[in-house]
Amino acid sequence: MALRMTTHGEAETLALGERLGALLKGGDVVLLDGCLGAGKTRLAKGIARGLGLTGELTSPSFNLVLEYPLAGGATDEQLPTPQHRVAQRLTSPRSETACPESTPPVPPPPTCLRHFDLYRLDSAEQLADFDYFGLIEEEGAVSLVEWGSRFASGLPLAYLAIRLELHAACPEQRLLTFEACGVRAEALLACLAASETAGQHD
Ligand SMILES: Nc1ncnc2c1ncn2[C@@H]1O[C@H](COP(=O)(O)OP(=O)(O)OP(=O)(O)O)[C@@H](O)[C@H]1O
Ligand SMILES: [Mg+2]
Repeated sequence: MALRMTTHGEAETLALGERLGALLKGGDVVLLDGCLGAGKTRLAKGIARGLGLTGELTSPSFNLVLEYPLAGGATDEQLPTPQHRVAQRLTSPRSETACPESTPPVPPPPTCLRHFDLYRLDSAEQLADFDYFGLIEEEGAVSLVEWGSRFASGLPLAYLAIRLELHAACPEQRLLTFEACGVRAEALLACLAASETAGQHD
């Protein structure tokens, strides 16, 4: 499933991020792609707000990853319809061993937000230097990854990817294309589409 939305200014991107952030749970990985200045960090700021982060999220460009503790997470009421409560991850051995197929696990509330920026990496091999995959697979962690699709071999097995594109004639406009990889990401996307009120999608 793919979804496209347009925002008309920074405030709309922040608001869209906030709606998405309110849906995220522990273990969710959101890849943010697009050229310099496309709005990845603005979207990440909105997502952080939706997750309940009260402090300011800053760009991790020179740190590779910044970590923020979270007080709680989205309530179950914010999850979509029962079929979308199918939250099992393609990647998680937990879902195969702990829960039978008929009762897929609901992912845990998010306990920390990690904001990555892979722009300064030269190769996917460098991801191992800071245990990228170990960090994004941590149970309670929500991961936002700027330039997350930079290396094909560095893609997680499951994720929600968001590509932001500038509009040639409208400097305040951004086209956002969402792509879900994995059952959980598809559920997130369906829920986001259902909650959409301000932007446009097709
Ligand atoms: N619709 C919009 N959504 C987001 N940002 C917008 C929009 N319109 C204009 N902007 C401006 O575009 C810039 C986006 O900057 P931001 O740091 O979020 O980009 P980025 O994709 O993270 O860049 P980088 O790759 O350098 O980290 C900001 O100056 C913001 O005010
Ligand atoms: Mg940025």
